[in-house]
Amino acid sequence: MSQGPLIPPPESVSQAEREALLGQRGLVVWLTGLSGSGKSTLARALERALIDRGHPCFVLDGDVVRGGINAGLGFSPADRTENIRRVGEVARLLAESGLIAIVSAISPYAADRQRARARIGAERFLLIHAAASVEACQARDPKGLYARAQAGELENFTGVSAPYEVPADPALRLDTGARSLEECLPELLSVVESAAAL
Ligand SMILES: Nc1ncnc2c1ncn2[C@@H]1O[C@H](COP(=O)(O)OP(=O)(O)O)[C@@H](O)[C@H]1O
Ligand SMILES: [Mg+2]
Repeated sequence: MSQGPLIPPPESVSQAEREALLGQRGLVVWLTGLSGSGKSTLARALERALIDRGHPCFVLDGDVVRGGINAGLGFSPADRTENIRRVGEVARLLAESGLIAIVSAISPYAADRQRARARIGAERFLLIHAAASVEACQARDPKGLYARAQAGELENFTGVSAPYEVPADPALRLDTGARSLEECLPELLSVVESAAAL
C-alpha cells in the first residue's frame, strides 16, 4: 500500500476508503420499541453475531448513553427529543467511520426518528421496530418499571403515561412479544448483512 504524505490535507480520507478498509458499508441499525420490548437484547445479540462474522460494529444503548453523554436529560418530551438527537449524531459519526452502529433506544417520537434518518441518510439507516405490545412488555417487565409506573412512581412512562408512536414503515418489524430471540435474530441479521454489503 502506498504511503501518503506525512501531514495529509484535511478531509483526505473518504468514507468510501474507510468502508473499503473494513469491507462493509457504514450503517445505522436503529431499534425502536417500548421498554421491555427487547431492543437491548436484540442489539447485543446482533452485535455478537456481526462481530463473529467479521463486521465491526458498536451498540449505542439508550440506558448506557443516558448514564454518560446524556446524563442530565430526563423523560420530558423536550429531553427525549434531545436524547435522540445526540444519539443520532453519535451514530452518524460511527457510520461515517465505517462501523455498523446499533442504536437501542425507545425513541417514541416519529419526528425524532425521521430527523435522525435525514441526518444519517435514508440509505444508511435501517429502522427496526421491536413490536411487542404494551401488554406483553408489562407481563415481562424485566426491569420492574411497569409495576412502578402503574404504582404512580414513574412519570412520563412510555406506553403507560407517555406516547409511543408506532413506526409506519420500518425496514423490519419483529414481533418480539410472540416470537423468541432465536426466531427474530436471523431475520434481523439477514437484513443488516444485506444492507452492509459493499
Ligand atoms: N424475541 C425477543 N427479542 C428480544 N428479547 C426478547 C424476545 N423474547 C423475549 N425477550 C426477553 O424480553 C426482555 C427484553 O428486555 P430488554 O432487551 O432489556 O428490553 P428493552 O431494551 O427494549 O427495554 C429480555 O428479558 C429478553 O430475554
Ligand atoms: Mg434496553
